[in-house]
Amino acid sequence: MTTAPPTPIVAALDAHARRLASVHLRNLLCDAARPGRLALEAGPLHADFSRQRLDEAVLADLAAWASDCGFERRREDLFAGRVVNPTEGRPALHTALRGVGGDPAVASAVAAQLHRMDALATRLRDGGLPGFRGTPVRALVCIGIGGSDLGPRLVHDALREPGGFDVRFVANVDPDDLARELVGLDAATTAFAIVSKTFTTRETLANGLAARGWLAAGGCPPEATSGQLIGVTAAPEAARSWGIRPGLLLEFWDWVGGRYSLWSTVGLGIAVGCGPAAFAALRGGAATVDRHFRDAPLASNLPARVGLVSVWNRAFLGLPSQALIPYSERLRLLPAWAQQLVMESNGKSATLSGGRIERPTSPVVWGASGTNAQHSFFQQLHQGPDVVPVDFVVARASHTPSAYDGDDRHRILVANCVAQAAALALGREPTDGDGHRAFPGNRPSTLFTLPRIDAGSLGALLACWEHATFTAATVLGINPFDQFGVEYGKVMATSVESLLAGSDIDGIDPATRASVARLR
Ligand code: F6P
Repeated sequence: MTTAPPTPIVAALDAHARRLASVHLRNLLCDAARPGRLALEAGPLHADFSRQRLDEAVLADLAAWASDCGFERRREDLFAGRVVNPTEGRPALHTALRGVGGDPAVASAVAAQLHRMDALATRLRDGGLPGFRGTPVRALVCIGIGGSDLGPRLVHDALREPGGFDVRFVANVDPDDLARELVGLDAATTAFAIVSKTFTTRETLANGLAARGWLAAGGCPPEATSGQLIGVTAAPEAARSWGIRPGLLLEFWDWVGGRYSLWSTVGLGIAVGCGPAAFAALRGGAATVDRHFRDAPLASNLPARVGLVSVWNRAFLGLPSQALIPYSERLRLLPAWAQQLVMESNGKSATLSGGRIERPTSPVVWGASGTNAQHSFFQQLHQGPDVVPVDFVVARASHTPSAYDGDDRHRILVANCVAQAAALALGREPTDGDGHRAFPGNRPSTLFTLPRIDAGSLGALLACWEHATFTAATVLGINPFDQFGVEYGKVMATSVESLLAGSDIDGIDPATRASVARLR
């Protein structure tokens, strides 16, 4: 197989990677001005790239490469609502959900649906939606999966306050998930939101039927169940046929990708649990970063740099995974959300035109909250054979006031975050030559700082990662807005389901047959 020679700018980046292979971060960090020069800001976000294994020549060539790849034109297409998802023939207008980009028709459709969502959220919060016994609904269980779950679940978990409206999330078709979330709830005062862009997702519809069954078992007459079932979808006809009443149907559109949909009516759980004002502030924070990403040149564009640095680490330095460690319990679900965003968007091997990509594309994204993670897998990050770049996220101020005089827990949290970044970068030679105590260092990270974990900062952070993912896709030549990779498994699951139910199907391999025989 012959491979095309790299373009001059890619060859220059390869040469930088070879040049920097023998340069330790310890030496790069001797330059006192480096952190100031390599940091960028966007709205409430500050990102320090000085612990990455690169220099300004690399950053300049990464930016030049992005331009070569048509970054500016693709970015304009994104905000203008042109088709940037060619395999599905769609634009990707998640920024329009935050009031940036799109045309007036899109803006008014968005405003109308968000207004309906806010009204429904307010009604629920005010006790204005009666259950089948006439008493107000007091809990909302959101049923959805993937992009119809991870974003709202993360934001709700990050911003919820004690005593707020009871909102719960169910994703897994494992019956235990719904059963455990229903503990303590009363059918007479519980509503369900069935959240599905397509309204065809097997897991969500099966859980929706189980929710209906639970309402009936709790005494709800069949004709009253639809009064406690809300639908959120881009397929309103399918939702209506499933039994969602028009008054409880919230819509969004096929030009909102599932993993970019939390900003739409998919965020109903956020509006109900945290309030419509918090949800608006979240979208406002995202809009600040949207405008920055749209307007800032590549050299000072924070999300673009995040995306380019991630490609530098994966495609040029050959580092296969990337950890995301929020030093915030409120952000403990951030890695799971980012995992879908990045890996479902860019975990591909085909170019926009269907050719094969010769370099590695997406890193494996994983992580957990600090400081807990330090007492788990950080051992391997410091001394394991594989180098894992880390994105650290930390807030300057705590959300929770001091519990006692001299309460220094937030200082401990921040100190640990910065200390990990420093230890990974600098490493340490053991004084007595004991290899067990050697820390090689030279392990890259980016430190993201927010003023505090509030709605605006969180919106900015999430939008930053969305645009970083888009930037990475642009230089890799990928369509980040389709996800054909998940389809094959879904088709197989349908056949296996039939086998488990006792049907025989031709063309099933012996291992699948054996597994089914064991599990029947
Ligand atoms: O499994 C992939 C996927 O299509 C995701 O992209 C999407 O977020 C999720 O399934 C749920 O889909 P839906 O919202 O249509 O139920």
